[in-house]
Amino acid sequence: MLYIGVDLGTSAVKLLLMDSTGKIEKIVSREYPLYFPHPAWSEQNPEDWYRESIEGIRELTADCDKSQVAGISFGGQMHGLVTLDENDEVIRPAILWNDGRSTKETDYLNEVIGTENLSKYTANIAFTGFTAPKILWMRENEPDKFARIRKIMLPKDYLAYRLSGTFCSDYSDASGMLLMDVQNKCWSAEMMELCGITREQLPDLYESYEVVGTLKPQIAEELGLSENVKIIAGAGDNAAAAVGTGTVGEGHCNISLGTSGTIFISSRNFRVDSHNALHSFAHADGGYHLMGCMLSAASCNKWWMEEILKTSEFSKEQEGIVKLGENQVFYLPYLMGERSPHNDPQARATFTGMTMDTTREEMTQAVLEGVVFALRDSLEVARSLGITIERTKICGGGAKSPLWKKMVANIMNLKVDVLENEEGPAMGGAILAAVGCGEYPDVQTAAEQLVHIRETVEPEPELVAKYEKQYSKFREIYPALKPVFKKLAE
Ligand code: XUL
Repeated sequence: MLYIGVDLGTSAVKLLLMDSTGKIEKIVSREYPLYFPHPAWSEQNPEDWYRESIEGIRELTADCDKSQVAGISFGGQMHGLVTLDENDEVIRPAILWNDGRSTKETDYLNEVIGTENLSKYTANIAFTGFTAPKILWMRENEPDKFARIRKIMLPKDYLAYRLSGTFCSDYSDASGMLLMDVQNKCWSAEMMELCGITREQLPDLYESYEVVGTLKPQIAEELGLSENVKIIAGAGDNAAAAVGTGTVGEGHCNISLGTSGTIFISSRNFRVDSHNALHSFAHADGGYHLMGCMLSAASCNKWWMEEILKTSEFSKEQEGIVKLGENQVFYLPYLMGERSPHNDPQARATFTGMTMDTTREEMTQAVLEGVVFALRDSLEVARSLGITIERTKICGGGAKSPLWKKMVANIMNLKVDVLENEEGPAMGGAILAAVGCGEYPDVQTAAEQLVHIRETVEPEPELVAKYEKQYSKFREIYPALKPVFKKLAE
């Protein structure tokens, strides 16, 4: 049989067709626009997601035996607020995970309701990107639109709804709404009340590998697929990526260098970091995970290459970078503010340390290193909880760069397992579809059989020592500039 994994990302939807043995038959990618209508706002049109996903499925299945397609599942950008009215029309553009408009509402939740209460209700505190503060923002700033809301859903759940008619979400993605009691895997009555919404406005919750419905007959006909194609709940993109990289079960780590950068630590049991610097979410394998998320990772490099250097030759620009561990230029990667571990929407990107002889290569190197230093900040939080991590998987667009992987290995002092393919979330979606269709008994068995390591990048002790010194310098820059960022935001 054949399974489709849909990775509903921020810059594009990626679709992957996998057979029962894990062989990738085809990958298709289709872009859609991202809108920044005001500083710190970030929006997309759900209709664009749907249109490009449908076209993507058509393209993906163009040359295969369509009768073999058995299931579709998803990994979706998390936290986005999608609202539908009584006619199932989208009320306003989706407010995305990297949108920073809800600082007032976030402060209200953390300071007035209090982080202790929020953590008790949901296992997490408020961040501007999470869904609940956005709902409060809508209630305050767009009351007429807020009053029309009948359904609240996450980005990938909008696709599942359009494809199957089932109003659903899964535990991993719903964890990031700040509306779910993560430990008990149910909606939080306290949070619903705080946000002025009712249970009827929220989707039913499923495990990521559960079947939520089948393809609507009309869509099946349009696509030339069977009406029996199963729609499987899917997961937030990081949990899906973890499945796609085999980061399931107890104590495994995955790093994703996508638009956002994440460090994901899987665990069988629920746990929460007492400062809530890391997110405590459900996993797509039925367990839980801790995660640090930085808002701009590969997007820093994309911005630096495309907007500033005006080049598309990413790997050529990296060829001249040779002096690792000695760069005097440092870069803070906070182009969209920062989530983990600083929780500071006002933080901004900066370069520092340049002199008259600073080269283009050193600036590029600083961007790549700055992203990894910032991810290490989250790793340090995990280490402070007594979690031992010695190796990690890696995925996302940035994982295609050998230099960036080497930096991860040496700045974080981790063995980096590189997989046969880097399509984390789309592969994870396809695996969840295969499990949902009964091809494998559970997510862990499927991931163990289908995900293969190609090579391991080992940390080099001399370089690790050099980077240790560099990291201690990097760590001083954000606290020193924090008051400046606050002033800049005034
Ligand atoms: C995770 C997060 C991002 C998005 C990106 O908390 O906000 O990784 O899911 O798609």
